Amino acid sequence: MRVILLGFGVVGRSFAEVVMSEGTKLAKAHGLKPKIVGIVDSSGAVFDKNGLDLAKALKSKKDNGTLAGFGDSYHDGMSGVQAVREIDCEVVVETTPTELKKGEPGLSHVKAAMIKGRHVVCTNKGPLALAMPALMELAHHNGVLFKFSGTVGGGTPVLDFAKKCLEGSEIRSIRGILNGTSNYILTRMAAEGASMKDALADAQRLGYAEADPTYDIEGFDTACKLVITSNYVLGTSLSIKDLDIRGITKVSDKDIAEAAARGEAVKLIGSVGSKAKVSPESIKLTHPLNVSGTFNAICFDTHPSGEVTLVGKGAGGPETATSVIRDLIEIRRSFAR
Ligand code: HSE
Repeated sequence: MRVILLGFGVVGRSFAEVVMSEGTKLAKAHGLKPKIVGIVDSSGAVFDKNGLDLAKALKSKKDNGTLAGFGDSYHDGMSGVQAVREIDCEVVVETTPTELKKGEPGLSHVKAAMIKGRHVVCTNKGPLALAMPALMELAHHNGVLFKFSGTVGGGTPVLDFAKKCLEGSEIRSIRGILNGTSNYILTRMAAEGASMKDALADAQRLGYAEADPTYDIEGFDTACKLVITSNYVLGTSLSIKDLDIRGITKVSDKDIAEAAARGEAVKLIGSVGSKAKVSPESIKLTHPLNVSGTFNAICFDTHPSGEVTLVGKGAGGPETATSVIRDLIEIRRSFAR
């Protein structure tokens, strides 16, 4: 399976590392042999139809911040759209940072790939939060698979859990902690009195935060994930503009201490039921959604079986790379049939 990788940040590099470290196991267990024939970052591109030397790509990025370590075969300034148009592959993996004004460059990457007849795996939330119904339509029209399990829950398979494993139940509402960074911050503030600023700086250093961390703390990342989950699982046609969004920036030490005195914790909750919204809420310490650190937790209120809650790590490079692998396995299975 020939793959073009767009974006070589935390997720893109983790994906390359997983391909290197788990390649033999993936081939044996799933027949999955991803061959990365192109990598594009914000500065330029490298490609090799026989498969790129991933160790060299990772070293170049670490040493130079770009892929220029490939010397003459480095295409300075080549864009993702150009690469998708010019390089043959079966799958385009889109891991560029989320951008919520126009969804770029991810939106153009996804569209160009689909128009070219490539299957798409996307971990970038921007294109989906802004234009999910149109992209689903474009994928269908071009006969390609569009997979995005890494957009919600990091490595935790929230979307397919709800869609496949809860089949037969009516999902009446969804409520969850969907942003690892803000949960990490609130946890550190409650447990050790850390300041929001310091905890955010740590989340950035550890690779949990968005390239623009205001998306995490102002609730937009949670909103994106709620839109994607609701559209995928409930069949709604929401866009991020339809949500009321309030993040954690106004949560104070006092709010956290008062909640603790009541046996509660302040959490950033996204919910969709009669309306869709994101806001900090105080929940009982014994509530199933009360998870710590970068864990995500999502509760589906189902009929007739009641509440079903899924918990797992919601942010991080290796975690999200796992979801890319999961999507590739599914693509392979679909077209190997
Ligand atoms: N910044 C995101 C988070 C990354 O903290 O949850 C995973 O989408």
